Amino acid sequence: MKIVSVVNMKGGVAKTTLAVNIADCLAREHDKSVLLVDIDPQFNATQCLVSGEDYIEKLRSGGSTVVDVFDDKSRPIESAVGEQEVETPKSLDDIHPWSIKDGLDLMPGNLELYKLEMASGQGRENRLDRYMEEIPDGEKYDYVMIDTPPTPSAWMASALICSDEYLIPVKPDPISKTGIELLNGVVNTIKNNHGLNISLMGLVITIARKDTIVYEETLEYFEDNQKWEDKLFKNSIPKRTEVARRQEDQETILDSDDNDLQQSLRFITREFISRS
Ligand SMILES: Nc1ncnc2c1ncn2[C@@H]1O[C@H](COP(=O)(O)OP(=O)(O)OP(=O)(O)O)[C@@H](O)[C@H]1O
Ligand SMILES: [Mg+2]
Repeated sequence: MKIVSVVNMKGGVAKTTLAVNIADCLAREHDKSVLLVDIDPQFNATQCLVSGEDYIEKLRSGGSTVVDVFDDKSRPIESAVGEQEVETPKSLDDIHPWSIKDGLDLMPGNLELYKLEMASGQGRENRLDRYMEEIPDGEKYDYVMIDTPPTPSAWMASALICSDEYLIPVKPDPISKTGIELLNGVVNTIKNNHGLNISLMGLVITIARKDTIVYEETLEYFEDNQKWEDKLFKNSIPKRTEVARRQEDQETILDSDDNDLQQSLRFITREFISRS
C-alpha cells in the first residue's frame, strides 16, 4: 500500500481535481484498488464523487467520515427523548470507507472538521496514521490518495505523517514558484518535527494554457532549477471549463469527450505509477 498526499498551501491549484482524477484513472484503467481520503473541511473531493442527496442519506444511515477518524473524545449529547447521553467516538476498526465504484473507495470529508479543535500535542495528528495502520481491509488497497486543505494545518500534518510520498500540483502563475519554495519549507519542518521519511514524488502543472507566456515561464523555472528538474512531470493538465462542469455531476476527466484532457491524465497517471 502506497500512501500519497496531494499538497499545496496555495488554494485553487487543482489539488482536489488531481487527487480525484488520478485515483479514478488508477482504478478504471490500471485495475488498482484505491482509497481516496478527503481531509479538507471544504470536502470538495467528496462532492466530486458523491451527490449531496447521497451524502446526506449515507450519513443518516451511519456512514463514517474523516471526523470519526480524528474525533477521539466522548461528548454529551441530547438524546431523542431529551435526556443527556454521552456519545462515544467510533473505534478505528468501525470506521469504513464508502465504496464509490469498482476499485475506488472514499473516506469522505465532513464540514464538522471545522469544529474539531486540533491543537498540536493532543495526538490527533497521529490518528490518520493509526487508522491507516489498522484500516479494515487495509491490505486491499494498492494506493491511498489524500486530498489536503490549502493551509499549513494539523490536517496537512496528519496527511504527511502517514504518507510515503507527496505530490504538488502547480498552477502556472507568477507567484506559484515562491509558493512552492514556501511549501517545501513547511513540509521540511513537519518532517523534522515528526521524524518522517516522506519524499517528494513530483510536481504536476495543472490548469495549464500552453499558449501563454506564464506557462512557458513556469516550465522554464522548474526545468532550469536543479532542485526541481527531475521532479517535474512530463505532462500537464490543460485548462478546460469541462473539468469544473463534470465535477458538478460527479463525473471525472475520463467521462469527458475531450481527448487532450483524457490523454494528459493518462500520461500523468502512468508517470505517477512509475514514480511510486
Ligand atoms: N484543468 C482544469 N481546467 C479548468 N478548471 C479546472 C481544472 N482543474 C481544476 N479546475 C477548477 O479549478 C477550481 C479549483 O480546483 P480544485 O478545487 O481542484 O483546487 P484545490 O487546489 O483543491 O482548491 P482548494 O485549495 O480550495 O482545496 C475548481 O473550480 C476546479 O473545477
Ligand atoms: Mg481542494
